[in-house]
Amino acid sequence: MGYFDLSGQTAIVTGGASGIGLAISTRLANAGATVAIADMNLEAATAAAAGIQNAFALQADVADYASVEKAWAAVIARTGQVHILVNNAGVAGKAAPLWEQSYEDWTKCIRVNMDGVWNGCKAIAGHMRDKKYGRIVNIASVAGKDGNPNMTAYSSTKAAVIGFTKSFGKEVATDGICVNAVAPAVVRTPILDQLTPEQVKYMTDKIPMRRTGEPGEIAAVVHFLASPDCSFVTAQTYDASGGRSTY
Ligand SMILES: NC(=O)c1ccc[n+]([C@@H]2O[C@H](COP(=O)([O-])OP(=O)(O)OC[C@H]3O[C@@H](n4cnc5c(N)ncnc54)[C@H](O)[C@@H]3O)[C@@H](O)[C@H]2O)c1
Repeated sequence: MGYFDLSGQTAIVTGGASGIGLAISTRLANAGATVAIADMNLEAATAAAAGIQNAFALQADVADYASVEKAWAAVIARTGQVHILVNNAGVAGKAAPLWEQSYEDWTKCIRVNMDGVWNGCKAIAGHMRDKKYGRIVNIASVAGKDGNPNMTAYSSTKAAVIGFTKSFGKEVATDGICVNAVAPAVVRTPILDQLTPEQVKYMTDKIPMRRTGEPGEIAAVVHFLASPDCSFVTAQTYDASGGRSTY
């Protein structure tokens, strides 16, 4: 048995069909976990699961509590226990100054990035508390710490994820459940297609390593936080930002 071993464990990864979520799903499965790839896009999730040993796909819209509750119940029925939840699904939203954003642009981002984390945790909290074990990893962003111009909604949601993680982590600190967040800087994934090249350049220029991150580099941080080895770390946000945020 190696360090960060996940043999016999079940992980749910939201938005696991693409980008960072796909890298996390692959990494956790390689460490021995059975991985439920929960994505709004069932076709992409099914294709992703086909390429990973010990993975299966299921449809879930994280913005919709009923959809999440049903999906998590299906995973529990299939595997008996959920040990790990990675709330990774997210959208960048429209890249534009506030005066060019509509209220719908704002709420759409909030419903996926912020409500999605609340929904995911709310729907698994009772199960993990009953089992006296859980590892929850929420994918935030350095945008939630530094604030990226032209991304008011996105930056707000990611700041909320960091605050939620601090609060919820304390609530379940004596239940065997660790709740942490990871805040990546810009990572080359399909989410960047939602932004302008100028926006991506602005974010990349802020990184002291002068490059974008790779999805696998985020998955490596998530792996520790998702493992039993992470036993005295909770309510924290880990940066994976090439040095961009140092606080
Ligand atoms: N790529 C980056 O630069 C970067 C930086 C910091 C944080 N993040 C965060 O990392 C996470 C993953 O981003 P990514 O870059 O891999 O994006 P991506 O676009 O490659 O993948 C996002 C996945 O989430 C799914 N998804 C979107 N809305 C959903 C919903 N309502 N319900 C279920 N699934 C949904 C999509 O179908 C897709 O498979 C997001 O939370 C994002 O905000 C990304």
